[in-house]
Amino acid sequence: MPPLTRRAWMTAAGATAAYDTANATPRLGAPALPARLQFPEGFLWGTATSAYQVEGAAEVDGRGLSVWEAFARQPGRIRDGSTGAGGVDHFHRYEEDVALMKALGVRAYRFSVAWPRVFQDGAGAANPKGLDFYDRLVDSLLASGIEPYATLYHWDLPQALQARGGWESRDTAEAFGAYAAHVVRRLGDRVHRFFPLNEIRAFIQEGYGNGIFAPGLTLPPARLNQARHHAVLAHGLGVQAVRANGRAGTIVGPAENIAVALPSVETDDNVRAAEIATRELNAPYLTVMMEGRYTDAWLAAQGADAPRVAPGDPAIISSKVDFVGLNVYTPSEYVLASESSPGFITLPLPASHPHMASSWLKLGPEALYWAPRHVERLWGAKEIFITENGTSSADEPAADGTVYDLDRVMYLRNCLIHLQRATAEGVPVRGYFLWSLLDNFEWADGYATRFGLVHVDYDTLKRTPKLSAAFYRAVIARNAPA
Ligand code: FCB
Repeated sequence: MPPLTRRAWMTAAGATAAYDTANATPRLGAPALPARLQFPEGFLWGTATSAYQVEGAAEVDGRGLSVWEAFARQPGRIRDGSTGAGGVDHFHRYEEDVALMKALGVRAYRFSVAWPRVFQDGAGAANPKGLDFYDRLVDSLLASGIEPYATLYHWDLPQALQARGGWESRDTAEAFGAYAAHVVRRLGDRVHRFFPLNEIRAFIQEGYGNGIFAPGLTLPPARLNQARHHAVLAHGLGVQAVRANGRAGTIVGPAENIAVALPSVETDDNVRAAEIATRELNAPYLTVMMEGRYTDAWLAAQGADAPRVAPGDPAIISSKVDFVGLNVYTPSEYVLASESSPGFITLPLPASHPHMASSWLKLGPEALYWAPRHVERLWGAKEIFITENGTSSADEPAADGTVYDLDRVMYLRNCLIHLQRATAEGVPVRGYFLWSLLDNFEWADGYATRFGLVHVDYDTLKRTPKLSAAFYRAVIARNAPA
């Protein structure tokens, strides 16, 4: 007999009738879990997307150009030659997408507002139609009992600002503050949770350092550090804009991809070493946002390339936040305590260390425990959200049309087991946003890399929940890793 193909094998194994991933009611036959194995009561379960990755409608209602269109149009920048201009048409299909969220049982949706929709040129006169879509989206979410969590900047800088220097210019940070104030004034009657910028580390490092994200620059260290500084300044100005314009009870905090060091062996001295290492790994990002100054070690390492800091900047950058949002996918490094400075040694990941479908996504689910725990210990954070966690997967539909993304299920289960440990030990993690609701435009990977709980057929835009969607429903229903 010739070897069975993967699809034939699925059929031979009897998986011919599609598993009803959208509607299967989680059967909680097992006895109730002891409280110590559950997430705390009221734990907030959500999903996340971002404007340029899902919306499409790039030219509707007078939207301006963003750096990502300009970048994606350059040959060779995006792996599959695509652009995000069409997204997955969330702009027109948001009601269907809200219904998908409702079926999952999530109580929160983290989306982003596209700056070039609101100010076509980034600053100046606001586009009168620029927030209409978000009005509709927010109303639809609230009608479904889902709380909107809005990110104000998820990497789609107006191209007109890039032409004037982008994040290398201090004016971009000022323009961001004005844009943030405008959005909060308009949506703040119904949106009470805001993140100023998503992952400063990623868009600065990859966009201005390595050149693999928009705008595709490879700056020398001094200019790169100045761009970083303007981005953390924008974070502070964004926090202040939310405070000044939001309704009572509005909360604001970062959504930063913390680089997390893990103790190689969990002993007190190694845990302390991992905290020290984590503080340094995030020196020009989360650390400066929380402490208002760059660490001595970081400044010494930058030498003459350190950023120029205006006198009022430290106070702006460290404006008080209500919570810390952490995007956690993968560990950065494993450390051991050391007697000599800086107090730790880093163990390189062995060549055989396993990863998920994306090679950058190394396995290390315990990062979901250590990241929030370090943040509580280092900075006394009182409220923490996991603002992104998830994985790519090959995600091929089986013969019955279903995506049995077991690798994603296993990845998520392990991450959630470690996150639950954090909550059980009293680390104040209040909620979790799974990246992502839908397959979407994964930046330089284009549509080739899928992160969704819901499969999107890119020819028809048909949405089909994967096995991981059924998994997440069960997690939410029992408030525990399922
Ligand atoms: C994060 C980004 C998000 C998505 C996921 C996979 O770094 O914030 O837009 O690309 O990675």
